[in-house]
Amino acid sequence: MINFLQPTGDHMSLLDAAKRVRENAHAPYSEFKVGAALRTASGAVFAGCNVENVAYPEGTCAEAGAIAAMVAAGQGDIVEILVMAESDVPITPCGGCRQKISEFGTPETVIILASPLGVIGEVTLGELLPGSFTPAHLKGAK
Ligand code: THU
Repeated sequence: MINFLQPTGDHMSLLDAAKRVRENAHAPYSEFKVGAALRTASGAVFAGCNVENVAYPEGTCAEAGAIAAMVAAGQGDIVEILVMAESDVPITPCGGCRQKISEFGTPETVIILASPLGVIGEVTLGELLPGSFTPAHLKGAK
């Protein structure tokens, strides 16, 4: 499912943006800093980091921060989103973030998995979230 990639210069602006914001992550409880950077159809890049809270469930993921910045700027349509953490195994967005990305993406939206050293691999949203809940389900409701 994950297409492991050789390091290249591609995705450089997403990598840089995720790396920069990840350093500001507020993760005193998990000590697991995450950065995310997404590109919209217009070419704009938005980034976010995880923001934990002493009331644990109130913490937010890096992807949620990047999506909030995108929406606040009046944009949508996620073409690709890079997620960066320091981990032996490349991290993928949690279930809730897959649904959040789905709100502004398509099954073809590319999810790029990275560490501070560079891109590790990529996978599509359709592969990570098959059978997702969509607006079509709402319209089908009685
Ligand atoms: N986290 C993210 O920000 N994004 C992910 O894709 C996975 C997990 C955060 C949530 C929490 O602050 C920390 O990583 C450990 O779960």
